[in-house]
Amino acid sequence: MSTQTELQQTIEDLVDDKRGILAADESSPTIKKRFDAINVESTEANRLTYRSMLLSTPELGKYISGVILFEETLGQESEQGKPLPELAWQQGIVPGIKVDKGKGPLPGAAGDFITYGLDGLAERLHAYKLLGARFAKWREVYAITASNPTQLGLTANAEMLARYAAVCQEQGIVPIVEPEVLMDGDHEIDRCAEVTEQVLHAVFHALHLHGVKLEHMLLKPNMVLPGKDCRRAPADEVAEATLIVLRRTVPAAVPSINFLSGGQGPEEATENLNAINQARNHAPWQLSISYGRALQQPALQAWGGKAENLEAAQEALLKRARLNSLAREGKYHPGMETKTP
Ligand code: 13P
Repeated sequence: MSTQTELQQTIEDLVDDKRGILAADESSPTIKKRFDAINVESTEANRLTYRSMLLSTPELGKYISGVILFEETLGQESEQGKPLPELAWQQGIVPGIKVDKGKGPLPGAAGDFITYGLDGLAERLHAYKLLGARFAKWREVYAITASNPTQLGLTANAEMLARYAAVCQEQGIVPIVEPEVLMDGDHEIDRCAEVTEQVLHAVFHALHLHGVKLEHMLLKPNMVLPGKDCRRAPADEVAEATLIVLRRTVPAAVPSINFLSGGQGPEEATENLNAINQARNHAPWQLSISYGRALQQPALQAWGGKAENLEAAQEALLKRARLNSLAREGKYHPGMETKTP
C-alpha cells in the first residue's frame, strides 16, 4: 500500500459522523496523579489492568473510532495474551500513539513552553507502526497571561507541530495536531478567543510551509472558554466563540476537529460539544472529541482499583462515549445523565 493510500484509509477508519477518539495516553507522571486520586498504586500491572478494561469495553467501537495510547501500552498484552492495539482494533478502534516527550520552558520566551521529542521521531514512528499504531498525537501547550503566549512562543510551537506532522505523514502515520491553550487563569472568554485564533493561525501557516497535507491530519484544539478562575460560560456562548475562531483559522480540507476536554467536567464537555454541533451551520469539518479526562473520569472513579468493579467502570465509560456520540448530532440534553439507555 502506498503511503497516501495508507493515510487515506486511516482517516476513513477514524472519521465519521458518530464516533470520537479516546485519549488514554497519560504519561507515567500523569497516570500516577489520576491513580493517586483513587488510592491505586501506579504499577505496570495496574496500568495494564485499567487500560485493558477500557479497551475491552463491550460495544465501545460503536462510539469510539480511535484510541491514543502511551508507549508502554502499545507493547502490552491483555491477560488473554492479546496485544492491546489488537484488542482495540478487534472492535474497529484504530490504535494511535502519543509521541511527544512532554514540555519544558521555552528559552527566550518567559512563561511559554515548548514540547520535546523530534530527535529520532521517524525511527520511533517506524517501530510504533510495527506494533500497530496508525496515527499519532503531539501536544503543544500555551498558557494565557497578560504577556503570553509571546510571538516567539506562537512561532516556535507552530514549527514543532508542523515538523512533527510532516514526519508522521512521511511514515504513513496520520498526525493529530494538538495545540492546547490552557484553561488556567482568570481571563475572560474573549481573551481565550484572541489567543486561540493567534495559535491556530500560526499553526496552519507552519503546516502549509512544511507541506503537511491537511486532508490527512486531524486537529485537536481546545474549546474557547473563560479561564477556570473566571465565571463559567453557558454552552451556547462557548459554541459561538469556538465556531467563530475555527471558521477564521481552520481550512475546510481538514476532515475532523476533535476537541480535548482540558479540565472541563465530563458533563460540561458533553454539553459544550452538543451546543457546538447544534450551532455548526454547514461547518465543513466533523466536530468531534478526543477527550481524556472527560471520558475516563467516571470510569476511573467507578473502578477504584477493584476487580469486582470492572464492569461498572466499563458501563461508565460506555455511557460517556454514547452521550458524546449523541452530542455529535446535537441530540444530547443533561436530563439523559440520570436515565439508563
Ligand atoms: P483531556 O481531554 O483530559 O484534556 O486530554 C486530552 C489529551 O489528550 C491531552 O493531550
